[in-house]
Amino acid sequence: MAGFQSLPGFREFYPEDFSRRQHIFNGWRKSANAFGFQEYDAPVLEPLELYTTKSGDEIEGQLFSFTDKGDRQVSLRPEMTPTVCRMVGAKAGALKRPIKWFSIAEFYRYERAQKGRLRAFNQFNADIFGEAGPEAEIELIALLIQCLGGFGLTKDDFYVRLSDRNLWFYYLEALGFDEAQTRGILSAVDRYEKMGDDAFKGYVEAHGALADDKKAKVLAFLKIKSLPELEATLTPLGSEKITARLTDWRKVLGGVAAMGLADFIAVDLGVVRGLAYYTGFVFEAFDRKGDLRALAGGGRYNDLVKKLGYADLPAVGFAIGDVTTGLLLEQRGLTPAYVGGPDIYVVIGGEAERRAAFADIQVLRAEGLRVEYPFKDLAFGKQFKAASESGAKLALIYGGDELAKGVVKIRNLTDRSEREVPRAEVLAEAQSALGKP
Ligand code: HAM
Repeated sequence: MAGFQSLPGFREFYPEDFSRRQHIFNGWRKSANAFGFQEYDAPVLEPLELYTTKSGDEIEGQLFSFTDKGDRQVSLRPEMTPTVCRMVGAKAGALKRPIKWFSIAEFYRYERAQKGRLRAFNQFNADIFGEAGPEAEIELIALLIQCLGGFGLTKDDFYVRLSDRNLWFYYLEALGFDEAQTRGILSAVDRYEKMGDDAFKGYVEAHGALADDKKAKVLAFLKIKSLPELEATLTPLGSEKITARLTDWRKVLGGVAAMGLADFIAVDLGVVRGLAYYTGFVFEAFDRKGDLRALAGGGRYNDLVKKLGYADLPAVGFAIGDVTTGLLLEQRGLTPAYVGGPDIYVVIGGEAERRAAFADIQVLRAEGLRVEYPFKDLAFGKQFKAASESGAKLALIYGGDELAKGVVKIRNLTDRSEREVPRAEVLAEAQSALGKP
């Protein structure tokens, strides 16, 4: 084996890969700006404690944690949510509400690497703090859809599954489960899609056998796929909090529908989310074909800011991953062609012409044109070959004869047409030939 290899689950971004990633980041940033979210950033290394009680067992087992040279227990961040809660919590009084923030950053989880799952990946995080009502969910679900739809993905490519941990809690309470049992059931529901019946093993070990009739009700509830079904199951229970909650549901679905996005959203009580801090609505985005792991996930987490020691601040948010997003864009042929070449390649006669060429190259570059030239003196033939291989649209030719006349030759590398222009007008001519102001 030659040299060194990067660690499993960590990616290197060669320029073509980098440009694909940049396309994704640019799209996310554009959508977030359109929705009025403000960008922030945060440390990549955090106190271990921030995650050990807040994120839940699954993430805890995946931490890249170690003791630093100052004997601190630290961890690379596996997610942004506890960090952004700390940041917002620390300045909550000074921030204008609602607080709408986003970030694009890299995260680290020691997962078994598989398709769509790596150990270092990027997420777009968007969160709203200070809004307790379902208006925040509407805003975020619309942003999530825009973040994926902005790339040209349609309702036939992806959808958002919406669920609600509150309704699960209320329903299980009505069935006679206590809080610990309810958490056990939700963790089984979270695994049910992947594991089937085995998902309930952990529950049975912790809480004893699950009666057949109760299990049947749990399974029926997790298969609910529409609001009318949900209403039909819950309304007969006659509970006030359930009735109020169903009103929130109608608000969320109605708001999203009013934005013309109803086709992107599916009621699906099978989603409960593995992370420990979610308290209300939860949602996940998937590709329609179901080939890929989740594109995005999020939900409400009204207690986390307070649990970290700050004010009581309602919050809701989501994160999209770049790995599954990239795979889906590739599958759908929505990855843009790599454009790495310059606008202009400058062909230089020799050492004497290089000075004049350098002066003009600097002017062109200062105006933002992408300009390249050969580092060493080369025969014209070799330079023209390099010019056409570079992907440049124009060649500027600085030959001795031309410079003596005070002109430069400008060659269109697509149609091969060529003409002389006064040196003083090189910038204006190049800009107009490239269609750039
Ligand atoms: P999450 O569901 O753990 O949520 O991650 C969100 C998305 O990040 C996933 O849907 C997936 O696309 C991507 N992702 C997660 N782990 C990996 C991995 N190992 N490799 C590649 N992609 C991955 C959260 O992280 C929450 N903190 C989201 C949130 C924000 N909730 C509220 N605000």
